[in-house]
Amino acid sequence: MRMAASDAHVYLPTRGAVRGAAFAFFGFGALCVTGGMLWGIAMAATGDHAAAGAHAHLNLVGWVTMGLFGLYYALTPPAAASRLAWVHFAFAASGVILLVPGIFMAVTGRSEGLAIAGSFVTLASMLLFLFVLARHGFGRGD
Ligand code: HEM
Repeated sequence: MRMAASDAHVYLPTRGAVRGAAFAFFGFGALCVTGGMLWGIAMAATGDHAAAGAHAHLNLVGWVTMGLFGLYYALTPPAAASRLAWVHFAFAASGVILLVPGIFMAVTGRSEGLAIAGSFVTLASMLLFLFVLARHGFGRGD
């Protein structure tokens, strides 16, 4: 079905550039995957794949999961405007920052403590997200 030009706004999640929490999640994710790709290239070039698990989590938790959170907040402005969005960002970003070096240390035979701490902070960020989702739903709400 063809839409009139005046109906175009129906398909836009927000008007204007999205900053704030959505931008923070997405920007953090893009930084993670840039680092993750460089790390992957280094693994491929050296043939040393020992850090593959840490690389995978930097990309999948750091980029894919953070990026999905960013898209959610871009599509759901009432959630993005809440203070909880920033609490969620703090937990999610801290989780990646603890988890990735933690997995690296664990898979290279050192302490597992950091990986355990990062796992629980990352889990807490997902529980916070479930709470945000239950409170604000999905979408603009108009
Ligand atoms: C420039 C881009 C990338 C390069 C050069 C690269 C390179 C690599 C290398 C060399 C491995 C180790 C393979 C092995 O030991 O069998 C690996 C594993 C992996 N990578 Fe990447 N990667 C890239 C991007 C990504 C992205 C964007 C993701 C996810 C969004 C990703 C997810 C994974 C996963 C899940 C594994 C398997 C980890 C495991 O078996 O423990 N990679 N990658």
